[in-house]
Amino acid sequence: MNNSPTLRVGLAGLGTVGASVWRRLASQADLLQQRTGTIVRAMQVAVRRPERARDVGVPDYLVVNDWRTVATNPELDVVVELMGGTTDAYEFISLALQNGKHVITANKALLAERGAELFQTSLKHQRHLLFEASVGGGIPIIRALREGLAGNRIISIHGIINGTCNYILTRMEEADLEFADALAEAKREGYAEADDSLDVDGHDTAHKAAVLAALAYGFWVHPQALYTEGLRHVEKQDLLYARKLGYRLKLLAIIRTDTDGAVEVRVHPTLIPQTNLLASVRGVFNAVLVRGDVAGDTISYGRGAGGDPTASAVLSDLAQIAGHWPNEQKARNVGHEALHSRLKTMDEIMSRYYLRLTVEDRPGVLADVARVLADHQIGISSVIQPETHVGETTPLVIMVHDAVEAKFRSAVKKIAAIPAVKGPPVHLRVEDFE
Ligand code: HSE
Repeated sequence: MNNSPTLRVGLAGLGTVGASVWRRLASQADLLQQRTGTIVRAMQVAVRRPERARDVGVPDYLVVNDWRTVATNPELDVVVELMGGTTDAYEFISLALQNGKHVITANKALLAERGAELFQTSLKHQRHLLFEASVGGGIPIIRALREGLAGNRIISIHGIINGTCNYILTRMEEADLEFADALAEAKREGYAEADDSLDVDGHDTAHKAAVLAALAYGFWVHPQALYTEGLRHVEKQDLLYARKLGYRLKLLAIIRTDTDGAVEVRVHPTLIPQTNLLASVRGVFNAVLVRGDVAGDTISYGRGAGGDPTASAVLSDLAQIAGHWPNEQKARNVGHEALHSRLKTMDEIMSRYYLRLTVEDRPGVLADVARVLADHQIGISSVIQPETHVGETTPLVIMVHDAVEAKFRSAVKKIAAIPAVKGPPVHLRVEDFE
């Protein structure tokens, strides 16, 4: 082993993940060398605040304060981008690829927005751009899609890929909390950021969905083109009715194609059957259910965030390069061959729906609502009207069979205009995984 070649690694960014990568490169060094036949060693770290490097235990002689130094250092073979953001990080990755370095990144927001350009640069310079840490933290879902399921056409992917949102929904259901209280608790526990929008408005999930869609279907969907609905409007009563109906509410990324070849990529709170494995994913955990045409259903579960789980994904990318080092595998593109390239609009999608109305408690109201649904050829599968309620209005919860979204929305608009219907109708989409 003493003749092992060395893979020289530079890090840019020393936040929670960067610090874990630094520590784990040391603690797992022997293991990586045994498994890959290559010494994997951190040789330079770019960090804005030198005192942070000292806290993490990086020796002063390895520390620089300009990421350009790492991107252009001829003594490095591979660099790891953990700076976050989409401006400097884009420049850093481009510069490193142009300078002949392989790049590893955890940056889903950047890949979702500019993945197509970055992979062109990676191909042009024949350097790897690897991104296992960008989706699902410690779950090796990128490698599962690129390699483990390489022989499958992907029929669908359903992912719980934001731990903060899953924590909030779990607490709303299990501790009977409203959204605002569950969010405050998530912040106290250190899960949600002070600026919570990226998580709770669904954007982080959308970025990850774009990465998964590019792997599955060969084209990059810009996050702004992707339907994204977060959790702010979710009320605990809807989780309770869902439970009565045999469902649980999860923020899902749904990526799917159908026989006409168009692709759906969408993010929204979704009712799923309590019997589906995804329904038992609690707290900050993530899980991804992939349906392939050969393998059928596979499910991957684990910690989707945090220093060590994300560092594990970075080590996996390093091991991929180290396993062949100093020989090099061909750099591979993502999103180059559009297997399908038409994104379905939300109007076109087909779904089951949960509809909660607040209605006057008098004869004929249910019949009026049912008539509007029937006029739109939408069938009802179940109805709940709780026995005990206070005042002159009552909740009316209706589950409907598959309907085209545009038709369902048009029906909801007409239902909202019925005089006995008070307040705006609440609707949620339902997945049955059939
Ligand atoms: N904030 C994300 C989550 C982790 O809560 O899952 C980073 O993508």
